[in-house]
Amino acid sequence: MDGLTPLSRLVVLGATGSIGRQTLDVASSLGLDVVALAANRATDEFAALAVVHPGAALALAGGSDVERSALAAQFGSRIDFGPAAVAALAAIPGTTVVNGIVGAAGLEPSVAALEAGNRLALGNKESLVAGGPVVIAAAERGGGELIPVDSEHSALWQSLVGENPESIRRLILTASGGPFLGKSADHLASVSVQEALAHPTWDMGPRITIDSATLMNKAFEVIEAHYLFGVGYDAIDVVVHPQSVIHSLVEYVDGSVKAQLGDPDMRVPIQYAITYPERMPAAIAPLDLTGSPLTFESPDRGSFPCLDLGFEAGRRGGSAPAVLNAADEVAVAAFLGEKIGFRDIARVVSATLDIVPHRALTSVAEVLDADGEARRAASDLVSAAL
Ligand SMILES: NC(=O)c1ccc[n+]([C@@H]2O[C@H](COP(=O)([O-])OP(=O)(O)OC[C@H]3O[C@@H](n4cnc5c(N)ncnc54)[C@H](OP(=O)(O)O)[C@@H]3O)[C@@H](O)[C@H]2O)c1
Repeated sequence: MDGLTPLSRLVVLGATGSIGRQTLDVASSLGLDVVALAANRATDEFAALAVVHPGAALALAGGSDVERSALAAQFGSRIDFGPAAVAALAAIPGTTVVNGIVGAAGLEPSVAALEAGNRLALGNKESLVAGGPVVIAAAERGGGELIPVDSEHSALWQSLVGENPESIRRLILTASGGPFLGKSADHLASVSVQEALAHPTWDMGPRITIDSATLMNKAFEVIEAHYLFGVGYDAIDVVVHPQSVIHSLVEYVDGSVKAQLGDPDMRVPIQYAITYPERMPAAIAPLDLTGSPLTFESPDRGSFPCLDLGFEAGRRGGSAPAVLNAADEVAVAAFLGEKIGFRDIARVVSATLDIVPHRALTSVAEVLDADGEARRAASDLVSAAL
């Protein structure tokens, strides 16, 4: 990028994950300065990234004492440990923070980035799902800029540039339908972890891949869209579009519909979140519209009840979306560990929403309390199902 602007100084959280690695690709192709890297575990991959980016400050949320000592011996004062160290990187002034952390652990760094007045390129949708009101308040307090990385929300964002938000009639989120599109509820009772991890169009981390298979990912995206664009749940629709070429659409009060299209490649929305409002060249193959027909259908809400659980939790507001997310994190981990079946994910989430008392959320601490309570309830339900 010509001339170093604050936006060209990048903090990459979740640097070893799918979003993190693709962010580092974008950074390398745009010649951006990677000033900080964070991850969770003391992996060889994290150490290798630290060597490739010798100027970057480092933070690791997890790791054993032995692993931390070894890393401290290798990287000295460049590295710090624990969740607070990750959040501290997000608060480095004058940076663009790409949050590619998975799960509710991404909330505190998101809040820290926005409170510090940084641009937050948000991959970690759980920040908004679990703590939407808290994240929006942090942006208002600190003046930080919140730009979505999720491809659907980037498409909505791009379709809204130059428009008056009051002229939105409807947001239409597209969903690939995941690997089990068209399958009956009976069929879903016996699907394996490997089948659920085989996403047809996107190559992502394991949790979001399972969430895509249950449609919980789309439920999260509905809540994310609600907070990002201030649109009510009655004005957010979901349509299944298996080719994942139209990434989402905005319908306006005059009947016009604007959309953003492209082959599925997360480097496009990641780069846009970093360079917005500019566009920079990228080595992305041109879209071939004659390649395959674009098709659309309604989601099967009976076989995939997680979608309506998301609408329900979103409408309830307060702690309900945080409970939805935490219960799902526990249930997906149990499914990946082959402790529960695929359809049990929705059962565990639904029962957790019934058990955990509903309350308003005004601080990160309250979000984390609701998150913890939901995790305990969901874990008990998983154990009872064994
Ligand atoms: N992948 C996609 O295409 C995509 C698309 C849209 C939205 N998203 C969203 O982006 C987020 C990341 O997804 P992903 O697919 O990239 O996940 P992933 O491949 O599983 O990567 C997760 C990253 O988060 C790190 N991490 C986990 N817990 C952490 C903690 N407590 N503190 C700091 N880092 C932590 C992991 O570090 P370790 O490697 O050390 O465990 C890893 O770097 C999710 O919210 C997902 O919903 C992803």
